[in-house]
Amino acid sequence: MSVNDPAEITSALREERKFPPSRQFSERAWIKTLAEYEALCRRAEQEPDAFWAECAREIDWFQPFDRVLEWNFPFVKWFVGGKLNACHNCVDRHLNGPRRNKVALLWEGEPGDSRVLTYQMLAEEVGRCANALKALGVGAGDRVAIYMPVLPEAIVAMLACARIGAIHSVVFAGFSADALADRINDAEAKLCITTDGGWRRGQAVELKRNVDDALARTSSIEKCLVLRRVGNAVAMRPGRDLWWHEVVPGQSPHCEAVAVDAEHTLYTLYTSGTTGKPKGVVHTTGGYLVHTLMTMRWVFDLRDEDVFWCTADIGWVTGHSYTVYGPLAAGATLVAYEGAPNYPENDRFWQIIEKYRVNIFYTAPTAIRNFVKWGDSWVERHDLSSLRLLGTVGEPINPEAWMWYHRVVGKERCPIVDTWWQTETGAIMISPMPGVTVTKPGSATRPLPGVVAEVVDRQGGPVPANHGGLLVIRRPWPGMLRTLFRDPQRYRDQYFSQIDGVYFTGDGARRDEDGYFWIMGRVDDVINVAGHRLGTMEIESALVSHPSVAEAAVVGRPDDLKGQAVAAFVTLISGKQGTDGLREELRTHVAKHIGALARPDYVRFTEALPKTRSGKIMRRLLKQVAAGDETLGDTTTLEDLSVLSRLREEE
Ligand code: PRX
Repeated sequence: MSVNDPAEITSALREERKFPPSRQFSERAWIKTLAEYEALCRRAEQEPDAFWAECAREIDWFQPFDRVLEWNFPFVKWFVGGKLNACHNCVDRHLNGPRRNKVALLWEGEPGDSRVLTYQMLAEEVGRCANALKALGVGAGDRVAIYMPVLPEAIVAMLACARIGAIHSVVFAGFSADALADRINDAEAKLCITTDGGWRRGQAVELKRNVDDALARTSSIEKCLVLRRVGNAVAMRPGRDLWWHEVVPGQSPHCEAVAVDAEHTLYTLYTSGTTGKPKGVVHTTGGYLVHTLMTMRWVFDLRDEDVFWCTADIGWVTGHSYTVYGPLAAGATLVAYEGAPNYPENDRFWQIIEKYRVNIFYTAPTAIRNFVKWGDSWVERHDLSSLRLLGTVGEPINPEAWMWYHRVVGKERCPIVDTWWQTETGAIMISPMPGVTVTKPGSATRPLPGVVAEVVDRQGGPVPANHGGLLVIRRPWPGMLRTLFRDPQRYRDQYFSQIDGVYFTGDGARRDEDGYFWIMGRVDDVINVAGHRLGTMEIESALVSHPSVAEAAVVGRPDDLKGQAVAAFVTLISGKQGTDGLREELRTHVAKHIGALARPDYVRFTEALPKTRSGKIMRRLLKQVAAGDETLGDTTTLEDLSVLSRLREEE
């Protein structure tokens, strides 16, 4: 991985506006006063083991843990010796009291259909699904690939895996057949759970067909369980493919939740890194649940009567931690929505908030920028008075989008929690505590209790306030990834080798005079498109797999809506012409290999890529070209690039 010089990432952004929470909000909050917050932080700092042990007592253990933390750098174990079950904590635990008939899930389909599941109903659905998994030969430790839209059954399937100790590997349903095959192969998944299709802007997306294509390239899958969602005709391969409605509903709703070790893998989730191959981030059971649960309280200030809506797809970590595990472990009523924010019209999200009287709303800056573009009137035609807290995640939020969210959606009444975290961190790490923190638009503010985050230089030394540097975490935290699936060396290299003795996030940041963190985005070869992480190498490999392409370099280009757009510089093998037709073909090729979200926005043909003497592509230069050059679409070129690169090398 190449890490840019932190001095270069010094940001010019200086935001002076400050927003304290209202007294009305603070008075009812879990954490009400600065003194309470500071006491919590002090305790976490001075007695971390006792602090986290107390947090861990908020969940049910079948067998108590003997030791809080075992830190064998860079490998960590939390709550050693403890046994528990994540599904039990998310479902069964709520059945013995007043939450039994509380609504767990308010689900809304894109076409306008809806379903409501109470905790009791959820328990039965999960029990049946878990028994079906067992009947299909899935046991503890087996991997199950889930390739589904946001449907109740997708959540049920995740929990059913957890119930029997199987490891789910959810693959975002927007990923292509090739991306699905790669993930199934890496995980050696035994079962794939999918749907005939999913609704997206009124169209049925053919997921089962993608699965069929993917399974042609995999050998580990024994069975494929298919839920009927859209009702289109699909090919069912005898002996391998089974309909959900023929297998699951007939099962008994009773299925014992197995007691697994605190460090038993709960799931793997693939995320982009700095090489062409996605990384299988491994999360385990005990620490992850404790961390997600505590953040429901600290960050989202969840109360039992709240309706909580996180708009993330279950294919991303945000969907795992804040659509499934966090809210359910907390016994919340959650909203989940299957489709697009602009279907049938631009006010679908506001309509859902009004319909379900949502209290806590958590979404991504890229969505907010779209709402700004679509105009205030879409928001204003709905009664959003139920909202009391707003959140964002996934990328830095520009202060103007923050102000719009505050003013138009929150009516200047709702605190905003800008939450910084990563697939690897498992749960929120840096965020306001809404009853206490004075927020500044664009800052994720301060680390949560027990999170020791710092901004350092490349040698790991401190940097002064308001200087750009690299964001690192100094102490282990319960939700952290444990390793990369079957690749502990890559885990060490990726996160613990670049800066001595600490976890390196890959992000640049600065800390201001109040100790607030301002995240400046990735400093490695990862780009953030609409809040989704893409490895530039991954896209480059996809481009190079096209027969006309000799070499490719991909960089991010600033984009008003998506944060970053994908810009590709491509050299062709001799004799091939860089035509508009080929440009389109390459864009489609990448979408086919990875998924539509990786489709390059710009493809520029060039006869050579600027390189250093050692042959390394000068991405920095390409970024500048991509950001500054309005004529990026045309094919004029290379001379300037190579001249420029030679000039730079000689500087
Ligand atoms: O660059 C940071 C950005 O998203 C990256 C993590 O991406 P991913 O693993 O896909 O997880 C996204 C959802 C947790 C980070 O390294 N990022 C995430 N949240 C923020 C952010 N950047 C700035 N502010 C945030 N609140």
